[in-house]
Amino acid sequence: MDKLSILPSGPMEGRIPISGAKNSALKLMAASLLCEQPLVLTSMPNLADTRFMAKLLQSLGVVVEWPTGEALCRMDAANITSTIAPYDLVRKMRATFNVLGPLLARVGHATVSLPGGCAIGARPVDLHLKAFEAMGADIVIEEGYVKAAALRGLKGAHINFPFISVGATEHAMLAAVLADGETILENAACEPEIGDLAICLNACGAKITGYGTPTIRIQGVAKLTGARHDVIADRIEAGTFAIAAAATGGNVFLEGARAEDLGALIDALRKAGVTVEVEPKGLRIKRNGSGLVAVDVDTRPHPGFPTDLQAQFMALMCIAEGTSTIRENIFENRFMHAPELSRLGANITVRGNEAIVKGVSKLKGAPVMATDLRASVSLVIAALVAEGETTVNRIYHLDRGFERLEEKLGRCGAKITRSGDSA
Ligand code: EPZ
Repeated sequence: MDKLSILPSGPMEGRIPISGAKNSALKLMAASLLCEQPLVLTSMPNLADTRFMAKLLQSLGVVVEWPTGEALCRMDAANITSTIAPYDLVRKMRATFNVLGPLLARVGHATVSLPGGCAIGARPVDLHLKAFEAMGADIVIEEGYVKAAALRGLKGAHINFPFISVGATEHAMLAAVLADGETILENAACEPEIGDLAICLNACGAKITGYGTPTIRIQGVAKLTGARHDVIADRIEAGTFAIAAAATGGNVFLEGARAEDLGALIDALRKAGVTVEVEPKGLRIKRNGSGLVAVDVDTRPHPGFPTDLQAQFMALMCIAEGTSTIRENIFENRFMHAPELSRLGANITVRGNEAIVKGVSKLKGAPVMATDLRASVSLVIAALVAEGETTVNRIYHLDRGFERLEEKLGRCGAKITRSGDSA
C-alpha cells in the first residue's frame, strides 16, 4: 500500500487547476443508464471511485470509452444487459447504489446490494427506498439485496423528505425523470451537485425545475436522449486546497473554483484572517505573514459549512490562535482524524458531535493513518505545516477522491513524495 512522506513546505505559491467534482461525476455516470443515446462527460476526474463506477456500468452493459488519463468519458447505455449490481461492486463504494433508480426507471426492475455502513457512520438508504415506493415501486430486501420492481413503470409522486439528504434527492431525481406524471421533491438538498445533475438530465431531455431550492419539480418524460456535459468543478477539492494555502501561507490561485459554491468556507477563512479574492476564473487565497485566529464552524447542508471540509478546517484550526469549536451535524462518526491530528501535536478534545480545538504554536511530524478520504487530506494539510517529516499511511482513501494530489500541491512548493511500501 502506498504512503506519503511530507516535509514542512513553507508558503505555497502558484496555481492549481480544479478537477471535475467526484460527487457529481458519480451520479452523472449513473444517469447514463437512463439515456438511449451516448452521454459524454467532460472534465471527468480520473479517480479510483469514478473508474470503479465505470466498471460497474460496464457490467450492466454500458459501453464505456474512457482512455486512461483522459478527462472525456463516453457512456453508451443503448443496450442494458444486466440489472444486478452485486455486493462486491457496491460494498466498495456507496455511490454505486445510485444505479438502482435509473435501472428501475428505464428497465422496470433492479437488484442492487445494500451499501452497508462506512467509516463515517451507518449511512442508511431508507429515504431512497421510500421515494421509490412513493413512485409505485415494490421493494423487498432479501439477503442484503434490494429488489425493486415497477413493471408498469414509475408514477410521479409528492415526496417530502423528513430531513435533507443529498443522495436521496439525487436518486429520486434519477428515477422520477422517466416516471409517468409530475414528481415534487420537498425539503430537497440544494448542493451544487444536484444542480449539475439536473442540468445534465435536462440536456438529455428531462424536465426538471426548482433545483438549487428545497422544492424540485420533475415532469416525467418517455425517454432521454444523450448529451455532452461538463462536470462541475469540485468545490471540496477547491476548498481543500484553499485551506492548505491558508495553513502554509503564501499566494495560491485556484483555477476554476466557484465562489458561489464555497460561501460558508470563504466566510470562515476570512474570519480566520485569510484573504480570499474572487476573480473571474477562480479564487485567490493569500496569507502573507499574518496569524490565523480560531473560528467556530457547524456543518450543515448546503449552503451551510460542508461536512466534507470539516476535517480540513479542523487541521487549520490546530494552528490558529485561540479555541475553536467544530460541530459535525451530518454524520455521527466523522472525527476519526482528531486522534491522528493529535499525534502531530494538536490539542483536540472530542465530546459527542463537538470537537474543541485549542490552537498550538507548532505541530510536529509523526507517522499517521488515513481513515477516510477527507480525514486523509486533513492529515496532509497538517503535515505541510508540521516540523519534521510526517508519513501518511493507507492513502488509498486519498486516491478515491483527489486527482494527482501530490503533483498539484507539489507545483506550489509542497514537499510530498509517494512510496509504495506502507503496511
Ligand atoms: C453525499 O453523501 C456525499 N457522497 C458525501 O461525500 C457528503 O459528505 C454528503 O453527501 C453530505 O454532503 C456522495 O455524493 C457520493 P446524505 P450522501 O444522504 O448522499 C442520513 C465524500 O467524502 N441518511 O446527504 O450519502 C445519512 O446517514 C462523501 O466525498 C439517512 O438516514 O449523504 C447522513 O447522516 C462522504 N437515510 C445524512 O442523512 C438515507 O436514506 C446526510 O446524508 C439517506 C441519508
